[in-house]
Amino acid sequence: MSYAIVGFGKIGQALAHAFARKNIDVTVASRQPPEALAPHARAIGPMVVAKSLRDALEADTIILAIPFGEHREVAKALPSWKGKTVIDATNAFGVLLEELDGLPSSAFVAKAFNGATFVKGFNHLSAATLATDPVVEGGHRVVFLSSDDEDATAPVAALAKQLGFAPVELGKLNEGGALVHARGRTWGKLIFQDVFKKEQ
Ligand SMILES: NC(=O)c1ccc[n+]([C@@H]2O[C@H](COP(=O)([O-])OP(=O)(O)OC[C@H]3O[C@@H](n4cnc5c(N)ncnc54)[C@H](OP(=O)(O)O)[C@@H]3O)[C@@H](O)[C@H]2O)c1
Repeated sequence: MSYAIVGFGKIGQALAHAFARKNIDVTVASRQPPEALAPHARAIGPMVVAKSLRDALEADTIILAIPFGEHREVAKALPSWKGKTVIDATNAFGVLLEELDGLPSSAFVAKAFNGATFVKGFNHLSAATLATDPVVEGGHRVVFLSSDDEDATAPVAALAKQLGFAPVELGKLNEGGALVHARGRTWGKLIFQDVFKKEQ
């Protein structure tokens, strides 16, 4: 398996730390040339290698750590996403629900990555928390995974475990996955309340 993180801001760097901590090779890319990212990548660890976006997309598994509104630009960089696994760490926080065609944000993003195996994950922790060692007081920090493809989550769960996290599979994007999606300006607790109200 080869891994790339697209987006080398707060979340991209937090994830790069997770890979470096476990000595797992990962490439990182953004719109900037690799030379601009290289010093920071090297400072995180020798396993973290900056590449151009095009070269980074040669990886089997690509983690999206870009602003939600940029996903189509990244999707356009490959003619086909067949055979790729895309892990969507983006949140559509602040995006109007009407702009998402009534879909959970990751289902909306997935439409642009036609043919890819698509999993939502690593999106619910703040970048500062995600960057720290997930082994805390003997326990493993949880990451939530959701996908509309039943077979897709197992390899991503295996990666999460390799990185030291405890993966929790939530099922489909519009079911359990909806609990960890930003909707407009609501998040987490408010979403749980919303689901709870609907069930009453
Ligand atoms: N920050 C958090 O605590 C947090 C927590 C959970 C989830 N998230 C989600 O994670 C995503 C990233 O958030 P962030 O806080 O890491 O943002 P950020 O610090 O602004 O970083 C975004 C990164 O994406 C790159 N980028 C932007 N457009 C791109 C494109 N078209 N192609 C390639 N790279 C591109 C940017 O680099 P260039 O501009 O140089 O290209 C930058 O490296 C967002 O969707 C956010 O909702 C954030």
